[in-house]
Amino acid sequence: MEIITTVSRMKEYVRGAKGRGETICLVPTMGYLHEGHLDLMRMGRPLADRLVISIFVNPTQFGAGEDLDKYPRDLPRDTALAQSTGVECIFHPDALEMYPVGYQTYINVEEITDGLCGASRPGHFRGVTTVVAKLFNIVEPDVSVFGEKDYQQLAVIRKMVEDLNMAVQVLAHPTVREEGGLAMSSRNKYLSPEERESALVLNRSLKRAAGRVKGGERSAGVIRSEVVAAIEATPGCRIDYVEIVHPDTLKPLETIESKAVMALAVRVGKTRLIDNMTLGV
Ligand code: PAF
Repeated sequence: MEIITTVSRMKEYVRGAKGRGETICLVPTMGYLHEGHLDLMRMGRPLADRLVISIFVNPTQFGAGEDLDKYPRDLPRDTALAQSTGVECIFHPDALEMYPVGYQTYINVEEITDGLCGASRPGHFRGVTTVVAKLFNIVEPDVSVFGEKDYQQLAVIRKMVEDLNMAVQVLAHPTVREEGGLAMSSRNKYLSPEERESALVLNRSLKRAAGRVKGGERSAGVIRSEVVAAIEATPGCRIDYVEIVHPDTLKPLETIESKAVMALAVRVGKTRLIDNMTLGV
């Protein structure tokens, strides 16, 4: 397996692969890989001739005071894990390689970044779409796999690909969960055993909400209030947002008439966790 740190070598690798008529699947990550990431790679493996992942803790998607500096990193461990799933190449540039001195171009997807994480993390999605667009330009993947845990991120990337006519197929992998239902995230590492226990309320509330819709409740307000009450009653939890939104536009819904998505972000201690679930009618 090759670990590539420069854009020029990565482009050379891609030229070689394309020259041999090979297709490329890209799984973008920020590293500190967990089972959720590995599942994205396992899904990507049969989809193309070359499986490339990127490991890049992207500074432009972190706001002031967020965890950029302490974001967990462990390249040797990530390399071994990635290799075990059949990854052939890791693109691992540093920040200056991706954003050289004088860098000044950003991509901004508008309306669907207004709410949810877009509202509570201003500038976050501008950083995500910018880096993902750069990765797509550098690696030229035929297909790229993202996790549904970051529901808004997936929707925003799909919108960017559609609006900018990018020639990449974006595929989604369902959220991978730990035993007990906690959605896998590199940030789970920050949780103490007590916080980990409290964090189970996220998935529990989402499942309960899905059950309420199945049972006939149609008022988003009623379901939202129940979820808010359950989370507020859990030690160490502070709600960032709890919303029921249209699955494509991500606009808040009052009534659940067809499919909807419940998305939430909660601080458990100092760790901000997100999760979501489709509420089907
Ligand atoms: O989901 C992530 O890990 C990141 O937001 C991504 C897509 C790799 C862009 O930095």
